Amino acid sequence: MSTTLDFEDMLRKIKDRQWALADIDWGAPGADLIEPDLHTRLRPFMADLVWIENVGARGFAAMATKAPNDTLREIYRYFHAEEQRHANAELALMHRWGMLDGDEIPQPNVNVKLVIDFLDKYSDDMSLSFLGTVIPMLEVALDGALIKFVMDEIDDPVCQETFKKINADESRHLAVDFAVMDLLGHARMRKLLIDLVGGWANPSFLIGVLSYVPLLNKMRDNIVEMGVDEQKLYRALERYANVGERSPFVRRLPMYQIVKTHGSWVIDRNHPYHLLADTLVKITARVPRRLLRHDPTWSKELTYEPAA
Ligand SMILES: [Fe+2]
Ligand SMILES: [Fe+2]
Repeated sequence: MSTTLDFEDMLRKIKDRQWALADIDWGAPGADLIEPDLHTRLRPFMADLVWIENVGARGFAAMATKAPNDTLREIYRYFHAEEQRHANAELALMHRWGMLDGDEIPQPNVNVKLVIDFLDKYSDDMSLSFLGTVIPMLEVALDGALIKFVMDEIDDPVCQETFKKINADESRHLAVDFAVMDLLGHARMRKLLIDLVGGWANPSFLIGVLSYVPLLNKMRDNIVEMGVDEQKLYRALERYANVGERSPFVRRLPMYQIVKTHGSWVIDRNHPYHLLADTLVKITARVPRRLLRHDPTWSKELTYEPAA
């Protein structure tokens, strides 16, 4: 059985459920529920989260240009805007909690920055089947899972309200992500293999792998530092593997098999893979900031102002 989704119907739902920062009362009581110790640990975590939303936004922007039909293109445009809204809502929360100085935009950790740099430079050249199988993994592992951790750890009612809205958006992102994987899996094997070889033969791809590998381990470390059980992250990663159990078309995607296999190494702490991945985390932590590019131009669109 393949998972069929009515994209027209989904688009209607998406339009229906749009929300704005102005819908939330950012000054409502409860901000002081965050203890000083949690405050310190939460700040870098939130800063990363803001930028991970932008990874999603950038990914959807690239997908929109490759969408096979108008409905899907419009869906991706909405998702692009929603990820930006998530980033801005998270900035508004940081602002509420007194984590930012005036209009300061917080900086992400170096691994998030590397992935953003990579997507910014190369995502428009990647095929839909490529982006369509990698982006869903980033969504389950980062966008979706990290939000749940914050919800579990923080009692501030405004935070709960915000992440409830974000979560509802994310569940639609995943539904579409997975349905598109199924759709991609209907292509001829010949086409799938050409896309796969084309993707891997591209020299920029190596940079992508070198950015992606330490990112997942770095975020795992961050979660552990937040005091959250890493098993929660692993359960989120398993959602990606489960899509293939449900759909034979998804299983046909060579890139899906690669991303899934990689996911199983990430989950297995004893796998030798971690020697490489943890080393890359250490190496990338030493990359001098000046070698990294400045913030991408679209980061100017970040704002905690409710009007946005
Ligand atoms: Fe998001
Ligand atoms: Fe998302």
